Amino acid sequence: MFLNLSNEPYLKMTEKGNGEYQVTPWSVEGEVDYDRLAEQFGTKYIDEEIKEYLIKFTGEVNFFVRRGFFFSHRDLDWIFKKYGEGEKFYLYTGRGPSGKVHLGHLLPWYFTKYLQDKFDAQLLFQVTDDEKFMYRDELSLKDVRNSTMDNMLDIIAVGFNPKKTQILVDTLWIQELYSISIRVAKMINFSTVRAVFGFTESTNIGMIFFPSIQAAPSVLYSEKLKKPVPCLIPAAIDQDNYWRMMRDIAEKLGYYKPAQVHSKFLPSLSKGGKMSSSSPESAIYTTDKPKDIEKKIKNAFTGGQPTVEEQKKKGANPYICPIFWYDNYFFETDDVKLEEIRQDCVSGKLLCGEHKMCLISKVKNFLADFQAKREKAKDAVNDFLYDPKKEVVL
Ligand code: TRP
Repeated sequence: MFLNLSNEPYLKMTEKGNGEYQVTPWSVEGEVDYDRLAEQFGTKYIDEEIKEYLIKFTGEVNFFVRRGFFFSHRDLDWIFKKYGEGEKFYLYTGRGPSGKVHLGHLLPWYFTKYLQDKFDAQLLFQVTDDEKFMYRDELSLKDVRNSTMDNMLDIIAVGFNPKKTQILVDTLWIQELYSISIRVAKMINFSTVRAVFGFTESTNIGMIFFPSIQAAPSVLYSEKLKKPVPCLIPAAIDQDNYWRMMRDIAEKLGYYKPAQVHSKFLPSLSKGGKMSSSSPESAIYTTDKPKDIEKKIKNAFTGGQPTVEEQKKKGANPYICPIFWYDNYFFETDDVKLEEIRQDCVSGKLLCGEHKMCLISKVKNFLADFQAKREKAKDAVNDFLYDPKKEVVL
């Protein structure tokens, strides 16, 4: 039975100390130990059974899964089982518009698009401008609105199907979520959200209510269709707490528990951690110009040796090297080519400077194309904006 979830443990929010990492939906610091995280969250690894389903329904194991970027899940097997029985699911993902979008943000969106295309699925995309306004002291409502407009172009540029995608901006369409959110909120007490999200006495009351707003889209289409429908949420693993919370109460409210598929983070260009908007040099933004790309990648941390001689002698360490992880996760580098890069890196044949030049050219090409799509997206915003009257056909 899929519904045997009652004792999935909540994540303990901060594991700094010896573990040296911290993951909350609002900050990820240090090097993340994904195995430990998955264990603590009580999620399942993507295993052979899931891969067999993927082959059955999509004809392949997509490279995001093959490379282990999407690595863990809750109830993905159940989603696929239902799908096999003819019950379709919808996709739900989102973006907190706190600033510019960087390449790390795009990866879960590209995987979401992949799933949309392969399963011909509806997508509900939530933009949590309310969350970012309430969470970030320095941001005004105007700031998050500007980021919303800007980020929407990135979302659209990913290439979602306009007929099957709705972008719901919280402050514009809260009335669609509100009756769900208050039912969710009534079932969750302060001590639970405090433990789950790491809230403190000084957390503002908006943030304390907010989890019920992020949970709502996971059942919105069930509301619209007046029957429980499966929902699959592709998201980075730091968002898991919301769904974990929702899964505890979904059935009591008459819905299915939302299913998830979790990604890792794209490593930062500086040493350790994920690519983060709060340290601009560690991230490549979708609007970066060729000269920014060059500068950032040239200055990036690598797994190389201090001198060329040493590198030729001792070789480098690809596993701690962001340049290598880009080849691995971001670009669909052919498996054979990737193994060649890895070996040349380890043996010292490939020098970091040379490897960086390859990456610079790949990122430049990618962004030239993406930026053109981003420009075009300006004319398509209305096609994607949430419309409460639009009929949802799964
Ligand atoms: N809280 C997320 C962020 O800060 C935004 C978000 C809302 C989201 N709903 C989601 C992310 C669903 C993934 C899936 O980016």
